[in-house]
Amino acid sequence: MTAEFIDVAALDDIPMGTCKALSVGSIRIVVAHLADGFYALENRCSHANSPLITSKIYHGRQSACPIHCARFDLKTGEAKSPPAFTSLMKFPVRVVEGRVEVAMPPMQIG
Ligand code: FES
Repeated sequence: MTAEFIDVAALDDIPMGTCKALSVGSIRIVVAHLADGFYALENRCSHANSPLITSKIYHGRQSACPIHCARFDLKTGEAKSPPAFTSLMKFPVRVVEGRVEVAMPPMQIG
């Protein structure tokens, strides 16, 4: 099965240099608008499943967990500091006619 792009936000809803927490079905995601485009990750810390802070971006491309401060690369999902060591799931993003769309595997949209 191929991923399906889902409309998640207007382009203006996620200004450059910010992140937005969203839900697609039962999946919590965070969409980041960085200098070179949009990126989407699961919004669940791989250390203890806390939602990530979504309002602040560190070093131009990192998000921090509010519980124990693990940082994640918003472009790749890679865990960048302990106590998280496992990467977050990354989803493809595209912009179509002023709308941000995220590709989710069909089984995860539920
Ligand atoms: S729950 Fe995120 S670092 Fe512990």
